[in-house]
Amino acid sequence: MSQAPASTLTVRQVKQLGGEITVPGDKSLSHRAVLFSALADGTTVIDGFLPGEDCVCTMRALQAMGCTIEVESKTRLIVHGTAGKLLAPLEPLDCGNSGTAMRLMAGVLAGQSFTSRLIGDASLSSRPMKRIVDPLRQMGAKIEGKGEKHTAPLEITGGPLTGIEYTLPVASAQLKSCLLLAGLFATGTTSITETTPSRDHTERLLAFFHAPPVIAATPDGKGRTIRVRGGSKLHARDFNVPGDFSSAAFWIAAAAALPGADLTITNLGLNGTRTGLLSVLLRMGAKVEVPGNPSEPSGAFPWDKGYIYESISDSSCEPVGTVRVLGRKLHGTKISGAEIANVIDELPIIAVVGALADGDTEIRDAQELRVKETDRIAAMAKNLRAFGVDVTEHPDGMTIHGGAKLTGARVGSFGDHRIAMSCAILGLFSKGETVIEETGCIATSYPSFEQDLHKIAYFHDPSLASLLGAGR
Ligand code: S3P
Repeated sequence: MSQAPASTLTVRQVKQLGGEITVPGDKSLSHRAVLFSALADGTTVIDGFLPGEDCVCTMRALQAMGCTIEVESKTRLIVHGTAGKLLAPLEPLDCGNSGTAMRLMAGVLAGQSFTSRLIGDASLSSRPMKRIVDPLRQMGAKIEGKGEKHTAPLEITGGPLTGIEYTLPVASAQLKSCLLLAGLFATGTTSITETTPSRDHTERLLAFFHAPPVIAATPDGKGRTIRVRGGSKLHARDFNVPGDFSSAAFWIAAAAALPGADLTITNLGLNGTRTGLLSVLLRMGAKVEVPGNPSEPSGAFPWDKGYIYESISDSSCEPVGTVRVLGRKLHGTKISGAEIANVIDELPIIAVVGALADGDTEIRDAQELRVKETDRIAAMAKNLRAFGVDVTEHPDGMTIHGGAKLTGARVGSFGDHRIAMSCAILGLFSKGETVIEETGCIATSYPSFEQDLHKIAYFHDPSLASLLGAGR
């Protein structure tokens, strides 16, 4: 899983996309599954773990703090829980490129009785940590970062914490999860309000591991307040990680924008706080089917009904299902407001779809994109232009003027996996050859991206290819 420093990815214009695939395990859930089972008492078997570099960082950090984790295969872990009693690490904990690893772990470490240091790569070391440092300090944690933005390395001296009532200043599941995890180690109740809902995997997993949070809609009905009781214990429970919707998003978007494409993705995580891309594509004129009946329809927030996960009985506590996409000519749309948090990781690929659609696609209220693995607004604007796309950049987003003739380009990844994969998809629609530079970063979330591309992409006429039994 080491990163080849100078790797490139070359793609050509595709003739057609189709077939049936599954994608690797969900990144957000893989981090949380290994973290929660390490904190639980008892033994948890995790199936479908994402062997991407980000999640491996979380796993290694937990091993470095005395948690025994047997790696049965790349995707199957047996975690022997520590019942919340981690040991002081002998070395700094390396979170690599992963904001989720650093922010969630910081919440746990704030409540441990030792000092630890969290480090990361150049990108992670420039990302804002003030958002976690401020509330963790309010809870009583001793935590130091660098400069005004409190960037990594973070030095955390854990100790007694007290629950707080806190309204998130930014819609961030990493921040919410950090504080809920710290709340498990605090005295009293920790009450976190989000005015815009963000992904709810932490809430579901708390319930799954037998420490259900209490959740209520905010008075305006738009947000929710999540409360955890300090001292709640997690209990081991085998967990199946479904396919990552954010990885499938590249194929869903590509198939949706290619007339004649017919692609099915199975065993896919369909948590309604993550599947906003499907609504965006439907607005753009796509044909998307979700056959069968995933236990919760996409877009539904059960919290509105005062739902608490008391009776989670399956092995993943997440809706899982199949998505079928049929390609069409698409048209532009606007993505803004509360929808942004739901599609936060899909905005680079949505920008690509905007380039392929007729008319304008406007992305607003997405200033968070500027503090992801790279500034994704600047990076996508630059790369889209290299393909011949007309883009207007805004402080909080961009407008993509669709319908331009696309020519293959040589573009950089900015060390960001989602920029690299999004541009590879644009290359499938561009005349000639596209080269993406520095694609080692793809391994952070989707190590088998290139292999999966070759499973579903036909670079020659598909009927001829299948007649001759030839490769794609
Ligand atoms: C994640 C939350 C999101 C997302 C990231 C994964 C998580 O980040 O962009 O890829 O697993 O909680 P923010 O919480 O910073 O928006």
